[in-house]
Amino acid sequence: MRKRIYQTALLWLALFCVACTPKSEMDRFVDDLMGRMTLEQKIGQLNLHSAPGFISAEKVMEEDENVKLLRQGLLGGLYGSGNPELLRQCQEIALESGAGIPLIFGMDVIHGYQTVFPVPLALSTSWNMDLIENCTRIAAIEAAASGINWVFSPMVDICRDARWGRIVEGGGEDPYLGGEIAKAMVYGYQGRDEEYGTDELMACVKHYALYGGAEAGRDYNSVFLSRQEALNGYMRPYMKAAEAGAASYMSSFNEFEGIPASMNSYLMQELLRDDWGFKGFIVSDATAIAEEVNHGIGDMQEVSARSLQAGLDMDMNSDAYIGTLKQSLEEGRIAEADIDRACRRILEAKYKLGLFEDPFRYLDAERYANAVYTEENRKASREAARECQVLLKNNGVLPLSRDARIAVVGPLADDAESMTGCWSMSSHGKESVTIWQGISEVAKASLSEGSWLFNDAEMEENVLYGLAKSFVPGFKAPDVHSVSQKSLIADAVAKARQADVVVACVGEHANMNGEGSSRSDISLPDAQKELLRALKATGKPVVMVLVTGRPLALVEEDASMDAILNVWSPGSEGGHAVADILFGEVSPSAKLTASFPRSVGQLPLYYNHKNTGRPHPDDAGYKKFVSCYMDEINAPLYPFGYGLSYTTFKYGPVSLSSAEMPLDGSVIASVQVSNRGKFDADEIVQLYIHDIYASSTRPVKELKGFRKLHIPAGESVQVDFTITAEELSFYNHDLEWVCEAGDFEIMLGPNSRDVQKLTLKIID
Ligand code: NOJ
Repeated sequence: MRKRIYQTALLWLALFCVACTPKSEMDRFVDDLMGRMTLEQKIGQLNLHSAPGFISAEKVMEEDENVKLLRQGLLGGLYGSGNPELLRQCQEIALESGAGIPLIFGMDVIHGYQTVFPVPLALSTSWNMDLIENCTRIAAIEAAASGINWVFSPMVDICRDARWGRIVEGGGEDPYLGGEIAKAMVYGYQGRDEEYGTDELMACVKHYALYGGAEAGRDYNSVFLSRQEALNGYMRPYMKAAEAGAASYMSSFNEFEGIPASMNSYLMQELLRDDWGFKGFIVSDATAIAEEVNHGIGDMQEVSARSLQAGLDMDMNSDAYIGTLKQSLEEGRIAEADIDRACRRILEAKYKLGLFEDPFRYLDAERYANAVYTEENRKASREAARECQVLLKNNGVLPLSRDARIAVVGPLADDAESMTGCWSMSSHGKESVTIWQGISEVAKASLSEGSWLFNDAEMEENVLYGLAKSFVPGFKAPDVHSVSQKSLIADAVAKARQADVVVACVGEHANMNGEGSSRSDISLPDAQKELLRALKATGKPVVMVLVTGRPLALVEEDASMDAILNVWSPGSEGGHAVADILFGEVSPSAKLTASFPRSVGQLPLYYNHKNTGRPHPDDAGYKKFVSCYMDEINAPLYPFGYGLSYTTFKYGPVSLSSAEMPLDGSVIASVQVSNRGKFDADEIVQLYIHDIYASSTRPVKELKGFRKLHIPAGESVQVDFTITAEELSFYNHDLEWVCEAGDFEIMLGPNSRDVQKLTLKIID
């Protein structure tokens, strides 16, 4: 009872303080504006449409559906067009209509805008937060110069299952690293202070929440996670983005705890707003409100009302809010305050962007002409791509000599689209430098397509033309197998025989990953395997250059290839950057941020798993009645944090400044790393911890720190990590963030597998 009286008093005090706080200029402006808006106009602000009719058009057309809505004041924003002239026309119409409120313009700027950077999963393998921030900075400059003031990025979904095609869009499987990346990206887009310069824009953190936990890696599938596991294993990147000041979030398609994320008040209100202090607005993913009807939660009116009440402010492409909210208000199913709250958040975002002061501040023809796809930006893309290539195997064949005769073969050798990668809105995508171009500029080389993508023609057709087949009425795909596989292979083999070394460019075409591109078999497609076997049979050394957007199962290739360099989809300057690594201009330094499985049956596979009651060593063979498979070991093929270099790094013994630490104290874990080879190179040193006994089960390892160091040949560097209770804490069963006294393992090493351990005792 006493507690209740105390709580009520506190509540009144809080309300009193709020009432006494003078209103900010923004509050007064928005109050005044909303006081003049009709109910329809307020609901109109909650509506976001894509601009399909606009994308390739030069002029807005009066008959376009979006123009009609604009004239009625029923759109708060548009997304999908980066044509400044068109956006200007839309803004003019918005200002003339309804309450004259400027629009926000969104865009899927995922890994660069016109200048394309390596795909996000690739960027994460750089473990270089300055580099990632700089790539998003450049993306923001280019997008903002085109009239865009809102990007649907960063995508920070943790994913443990490489079947999910969207693993390519995120930072991999680890929540600590993912959190650092999320912050870097928000800073890159928005800047580090609260003001938006004209080259800074709003980030939109997605997909909130847990979309990467899709069951069986199938896109849009349900997510079954406990709240505790969600908080410990997945939420940190979303939280860190809020701490960095992200302006908006996008709700995800999946459900959580039986409630679709887009109407989940635990996610949107309790966690994001109440716990993490997020103050911006939340937009649904495209048609996500309408899809709640398919989830079986209610009809359109019901799901719209529930989504709004749960804290979803803006409706992307469902027309659910403009279609139902007025009626729901009339029927008393929602309150006007629900609409006002959402409308206010969107108006505040527009105010902060400076659009009320100058609705055209992002539309500057001079900047558009001078700041986009510049030589300087492409140079930055090449430098980024050099840091994002993971050397998975090397028997000494790499780096290549520039004097060597090189056969460049494979269906992805001269494919610009696969350099650009999925989710690119660049109009320069076809200009991306291919691997063939990059190599042939510096060495004597021959080119051969080598094989089909797939033996199954329908599959290949779906990869190359699936989008057009699904959405363009009457589309007829060209013949994908017009040349036989036999003659493609014969040509590649003939060229391999005349060469000193073969560079085989295989893997995933850009359309094989990204949204709606889940795969149930993540080995190399059969046609490409045939090519590799034929090349191997020539007896020439074969370097496999892997183009991919996800981890693949490469057991056969790991055994047969002389080297494997995973270049992902490396961006506008991909081919140049790949050549830089192949010829040893720089040593590879990237390390994996998602485990590469040995087979698809191991999925989901992630290094930070639990021990189970019947653990079994990762590399041990089958044993009855322990946690393992009859036909596969537990270990991944390449573990999290793994990546080779052209040099050899030697780790000295690990030390702790003290074997004991009070809960409010700190210790330093140190190791000396020496470059014993001939190359100046970068090394990524990783810190992991393991809570040996805790009130809840804990992962066998958790990343808690990392350093990327440049170590010249022959030199050594001492690396120190400070450990405090923060690094040792977790969400316990009551969902409290706690550090519990007891023994912890502290591990340091070059990857998550090859670590040295020491024990640290935490004293209460
Ligand atoms: C659906 C995707 O899930 C999301 O990532 C994207 O931002 C929106 N469509 C808008 O294109």
